Amino acid sequence: MTTPAFLLFGAHGDLATRMLWPSLFRLHCDGSLPADMALYGLGRAGDTDGMRAQLRLALAEEADGERLEGFLQRVAFVAVDAGRPAAYSALAERLAADGRHVAISYLSMPPDLFAPIVEGLHGAGLVDPRTRVILEKPIGKDLASSRVISDGVAKVLSEEQTYRIDHYLGKEAVQNLLALRFANVIFEPLWNSTHVAAVHITIAESLGIGGRWGYYDKSGALRDMVQNHMLQLISLVAMEPPVNGSSEAIRNEKIKVLQALRPITEANVRECVVFGQYAAADGMPGYNGEDDAREPSRTETFVGIKAFVDNWRWKGVPFHLVTGKRLDAKLTEVVVDFKPVPQFLFGQERGGDHANRLVIRMQPDESITLQIFNKTPDVHEFVLKPVELNLEIDGGGNGKVRHIAYERLIRDAIRGDRTLFVRRDELEQAWAWIDRIHQAYQAAGLPVQPYPAGSHGPRLP
Ligand code: BG6
Repeated sequence: MTTPAFLLFGAHGDLATRMLWPSLFRLHCDGSLPADMALYGLGRAGDTDGMRAQLRLALAEEADGERLEGFLQRVAFVAVDAGRPAAYSALAERLAADGRHVAISYLSMPPDLFAPIVEGLHGAGLVDPRTRVILEKPIGKDLASSRVISDGVAKVLSEEQTYRIDHYLGKEAVQNLLALRFANVIFEPLWNSTHVAAVHITIAESLGIGGRWGYYDKSGALRDMVQNHMLQLISLVAMEPPVNGSSEAIRNEKIKVLQALRPITEANVRECVVFGQYAAADGMPGYNGEDDAREPSRTETFVGIKAFVDNWRWKGVPFHLVTGKRLDAKLTEVVVDFKPVPQFLFGQERGGDHANRLVIRMQPDESITLQIFNKTPDVHEFVLKPVELNLEIDGGGNGKVRHIAYERLIRDAIRGDRTLFVRRDELEQAWAWIDRIHQAYQAAGLPVQPYPAGSHGPRLP
């Protein structure tokens, strides 16, 4: 009888240090990790003492020494050169000696290693029907490369064993969007083109590329942010009510939104898309002046898209998708602009000034607010004032620690709940839409517009 092991490939990496180990630690503290589960950090070189010392430093602010030491007792390190098939037999011997089977493998690694890793694990007898594998993004750089990776992984693992992470799905406010839409009756009658004027989805970041130029330059904002996070958000905002709350029912509805996205082609790209790249300003370097920048590049660090979901519910409603690096603020939000009342009764109407607006904010704070209009107390005049109804239940003030998105997702993978993971057909549908945008933008000869670091970025067409 063996006990479960959690393998973390890329254990010394930046994501592991900032997000994954802290998430595992918190899950350990609140009793969400199976008591008999051991955690193996895997990397090219190192040992258990070194791994524990690194975690002691990284987690020092998280907890008292006693809890930390309890956690570290679960942690071991095994040196594995993930690209070398021979490396896996040594790993298998170690796990056999420890009496462990692989329950979860988290691949926080470059995507071209996903298939070699799962094949290596399989070849060493480390995959059985209990094994689940979590894949970090990006899965490929376009539809064709993503298919090659998925086919390689699928030789060993079923779709049910494959957990594709999009950490946005682990954010509380993103899940709250589902609660807001499907646990309340009041929004549903308004959630369509008859009552919604526009939807804005913004992921603005104030930081630049910071040491990730090598990765980012091959990716760009369209692949790094729109293909995954933004398309997941649009799916959740626009999807139909699922037939039930199961992971398949929810994902069945999300994919239909992606299928309904109006293709962006050479014929319409000019009216729908803008790419930008930050330029030096106010002492901040431009993209091509970052420390680790190499030859000058045209990679986009900003994307603005006017997207349309061509289905019965949303026909004609623009979904404005905006994301960029080195903008004037760090802000992630979904804003639903409702249409104004059919006839305004209270003096001069000024366009959409008197329209309701629902704001679901994910960063820097998590909140949901509904802007409605109220009369200010006044005997002489009838003055309307916008009032923000705060719909947030737990403003973070109930003493609970705000959860890292990864914490929730790792917990779900351990329990076998795939709802907040991306299915292969969603991934491929998303890539197909994104690939066309890249092709269309290039074919139309459109420029990557420079914008000053710290600004709003270019305007949408
Ligand atoms: C990652 C991107 O997926 O998401 C990064 O690769 C980006 O470029 C990050 O900075 C943003 O995540 P969050 O949770 O900080 O909005």
